[in-house]
Amino acid sequence: MPAVKTTTGDRAPPGVIALDIYGTVIDPAAIVIHLSNAFDTRAQLAAQLWRERQLEFTFRRALMRKYADFDLCTAQALTQVSAQLGVKLGEDDKRALLDAYLRLPAFPDVKLGLERLKASGYRIIALTNGTEKSVRALLQHAGISEYFEMIVSADAIKTFKPDPAVYQLVQRAGDTPKQNVWLVSGNPFDIIGAKAYGLKAAWVRRDPSRVFDPWEFSPDEVVQNLQELCAALQRK
Ligand code: 2OP
Repeated sequence: MPAVKTTTGDRAPPGVIALDIYGTVIDPAAIVIHLSNAFDTRAQLAAQLWRERQLEFTFRRALMRKYADFDLCTAQALTQVSAQLGVKLGEDDKRALLDAYLRLPAFPDVKLGLERLKASGYRIIALTNGTEKSVRALLQHAGISEYFEMIVSADAIKTFKPDPAVYQLVQRAGDTPKQNVWLVSGNPFDIIGAKAYGLKAAWVRRDPSRVFDPWEFSPDEVVQNLQELCAALQRK
């Protein structure tokens, strides 16, 4: 995004990066190492199904106006997957897995990418379906809290992305016009939701095999990691 010229001719700051968390900054697939004990050779399948159900539950709850927070959607998705795969998880097992979810790792490129975005003058705001409490724990555990100006959680308005109200929330929290905000996400549904609301959007294609959804909305930039994002934004 070009730093727009102000009337006095000096360069306005580059703007706001509204950064998605799960699947963009933090890697939910890394939970697999905690699943191998209970799910053995199906640990990868369990991790994939867990993520799919977790997101599916958020979409359905938002559409039904029957909100429950992301932590509960995550817990109920785990219960569903263990029943689906015929693996009995005791309450202690589930609690241990949900605790591990609060300590998921950041993708390897994230710290340096955040450093570069910050050095370029961008304001970085976390925009997430996750609860503020859980996302704060994740960012602290990953050692990257310092780069975020604030955490804007959909939980504040009891809905989930891609509800347009969530993108409006980050625009208001950042006190900035739409054209100053880049939504950055690894999740195509999030990119589409942001574009439909009128934000610019950069897709961080964390899974190289992932094909973008064939809708009437497409990302303004497609990058493989946050370093490439910095380079792409500087070319704007
Ligand atoms: C997030 O809101 C979409 O799960 C992703 O962090």
